[in-house]
Amino acid sequence: MNDLDTLVQSAAEAFAAALTPADLENAKARFLGKSGSLTDLLKGMAALSPDDKKTRGAAINQAKQQVEAALTSRRQALADDELAQQLRAESLDVSLPGRRRGEGGLHPVSLTLERMEAIFGSMGFAVADGPEIETDWFNFTALNTPADHPARSMHDTFYVEGGHLLRTHTSPMQVRYAVQHVKRHADALARGERIPEIRVIAPGRTYRVDSDATHSPMFHQCEGLWIGEAVNFTDLKAVFADFFRNFFETDELDIRFRPSFFPFTEPSAEVDIAFASGPLKGRWLEVGGSGQVHPNVVRHFGLDPEKYIGFAFGLGPDRLTMLRYGVNDLRLFYEGDLRFLSQFQ
Ligand code: DAH
Repeated sequence: MNDLDTLVQSAAEAFAAALTPADLENAKARFLGKSGSLTDLLKGMAALSPDDKKTRGAAINQAKQQVEAALTSRRQALADDELAQQLRAESLDVSLPGRRRGEGGLHPVSLTLERMEAIFGSMGFAVADGPEIETDWFNFTALNTPADHPARSMHDTFYVEGGHLLRTHTSPMQVRYAVQHVKRHADALARGERIPEIRVIAPGRTYRVDSDATHSPMFHQCEGLWIGEAVNFTDLKAVFADFFRNFFETDELDIRFRPSFFPFTEPSAEVDIAFASGPLKGRWLEVGGSGQVHPNVVRHFGLDPEKYIGFAFGLGPDRLTMLRYGVNDLRLFYEGDLRFLSQFQ
């Protein structure tokens, strides 16, 4: 084998060993570049006789063509490889079923809240909304809750910076709403005229330091307030009867008031219901608190407790959701597990 054959062969080997276009260009420079081996050979011809130049020149050119041909074919091979690899990586199986967009739905507790708004709405209750970060005044003081009341302790209440807290119940909405209502009718009040009744519910999130199968640090309440000149416990019982029978879609349901204590109502009662049939048949189930609004609270509304009277109530939408769907662990509602949540759609 002469020197040219050796050179062509080692070029072919170097090209074959190049696995990327960049490697290949480096290998090319070694043979065909300005100071590559072939270029050196051409330079070396200067010293030859004219006859030798002819034969040597032709031989070198032939070798150069062979090297260039090897380069071109290796370039093509690398490009083909790259394309094949890309096709493999991006291949589509057009026979696979399409990816569907999941259908969203409302959370079961949201379904309950919507249901409560619709039923109370049909009884003439407005729906109000208010802040979850509350002041001590609205959450406690305005609601006749004294400074030494246990509900104010750190064990029960999440305090945040700036003297605020996460509302422990929706009851502050009684005061917020009533104050606005009174403001709207201030002129009529000043003239001694009667003003429209306050009839409102305020559903929303509430927070307490509490966590077990039936308590979550974040939970829901639905406050209710009905204030007028002659609103009494009979009205309250009728409202509850209508509400619960509608909510649970059964007339076979009993309601009872159990004497209790809340600082902002007097007298106060716990509300229990019992189903006449079904798995919970005959068991009294606590669903909320209620009572006649305390005169001190009515005063904080900006009204004269000698003229205005009524009741307030607080229902537990989480509990109502558990009862309606037969769920026995509250935490399931807040784990975000779609296998659980999608059953309510
Ligand atoms: N705020 C009370 C609680 O969180 C529930 C409650 C009881 C609300 C009696 C009321 C009421 O409006 O009259 O335990």
